[in-house]
Amino acid sequence: MQIQEVDALKRQAAEAAVAHIESGMVVGLGAGSTALKALECIAERLAVGRLTEILGVPSSEQVAEDARRLAIPLTTLDCHPRIDLTIDGADEVDPQLRVIKGGGGALLREKIVAQASEREMIIVDERKLSARLGEKWALPVEVLAFGLRAHVEYIERLGAAVQVRTVPDGSQFRTDSGNLILDCQFGPMEDPECIAGALERRAGIVEHGLFLDLVTDLVVASPAGTQHLTR
Ligand code: A5P
Repeated sequence: MQIQEVDALKRQAAEAAVAHIESGMVVGLGAGSTALKALECIAERLAVGRLTEILGVPSSEQVAEDARRLAIPLTTLDCHPRIDLTIDGADEVDPQLRVIKGGGGALLREKIVAQASEREMIIVDERKLSARLGEKWALPVEVLAFGLRAHVEYIERLGAAVQVRTVPDGSQFRTDSGNLILDCQFGPMEDPECIAGALERRAGIVEHGLFLDLVTDLVVASPAGTQHLTR
């Protein structure tokens, strides 16, 4: 698929999702290129008065910057701990609406925002669909820099090939919270809950990109149209 076609599908998914935002809502703003399309749709609706008085909760510093540039009013979870609807992207989605997130490294704040949300709406193009999570994407895991080698070896013992994420100049990628990301290649996961549990039990592992029971709505854009699935 050409990049322009993928872009059009992202926009299609974003428009379908943003149609669910009502004036006055507190809206969780996800990270990544698909979620950015949703920000643009929200900004367009605000500009013409089709939406009023919404407040956005950004899930990364980059999203906050994008939202400010697009004149979307922002708030924080401290001021508004309950979010009506979050719109976010994902890296991989399975038929049970379980997803892998964290391609952009924002998984910790994205999960905090998702857990504070009444509805977590994930928007993807059809390339993100998988029969089993891990088929197409390594699982991002956020870890403390302290004890890095021990975290890597622990996750390797769970069966993954692990890479410390770096940026183009070769230095380690740092999250908004100052942590590192390990990209963990598990391959197709037979039991994502079991992997999530093992990661959650380990000190030093801050969060992982498996969102297993958080997604309430999935919007999938394909050249044939847009599908909206709910849990
Ligand atoms: C950010 O950390 C991620 O969870 C993104 O939501 C995810 O990587 C999807 O990004 P794209 O929409 O750019 O593919």
